[in-house]
Amino acid sequence: MTQQGRLVEYLAIAPVVPVLMIDDAAHAIPLAEALLAGGIGIVEVTLRTEAALPAIAAMIRAVPGMVVGAGTILTPTQYEQASAAGAQFIVAPGATVPLIAAARQGKIPFLPGAATPSEVLALRDAGYLHQKFFPAEPAGGIPMLKALAAPIPDVRFCPTGGITLTNAPDYLALGNIACVGGSWLTPAALMHAQNWSRISDLAAEASRLRLG
Ligand code: 3PG
Repeated sequence: MTQQGRLVEYLAIAPVVPVLMIDDAAHAIPLAEALLAGGIGIVEVTLRTEAALPAIAAMIRAVPGMVVGAGTILTPTQYEQASAAGAQFIVAPGATVPLIAAARQGKIPFLPGAATPSEVLALRDAGYLHQKFFPAEPAGGIPMLKALAAPIPDVRFCPTGGITLTNAPDYLALGNIACVGGSWLTPAALMHAQNWSRISDLAAEASRLRLG
């Protein structure tokens, strides 16, 4: 299977990809287990904290049922670091020429980000028919995605940024959506309190959402 073929399979695992900000690598395994228990088998661990890379490695080692991606990848160096940590897919909030070059040389499925028609077309030209739409709500949200579908019907989006349990169903009802991403399943307060059972409940609620 091609790299991007694997990405398509991953993005079909759950309607919602939790976007994780992990402050303490010791939280990685119980967090992944809690999300999996709630029916969510895929996560994006953002490289916004020092704990992110060890957290990815720990999840990959100890929670085999979870597909673990690395997010907030801004540079080829971060792509390599995430790859070395074992990340199964790589997510970027946008795309740059060096990052696309790194992704082409690498072996890991890549979900690059776009927020305008020209960015979507540039990535489409580079072969990326699945893209992160970021930041979803500030960039125009549902009306923007509907407008993009008319001239560019073959690109599927994973919108992230401002998605909640309340607006997720309207996003998932659109024809050009693969899944949505969001941090609402893992609020900082619940993470700090290590309230894994409540996080499991939030995951269960999200896993019941359906594509339209
Ligand atoms: C991301 O990195 O994808 C977003 O910042 C997550 O956005 P949210 O916190 O609004 O869900």
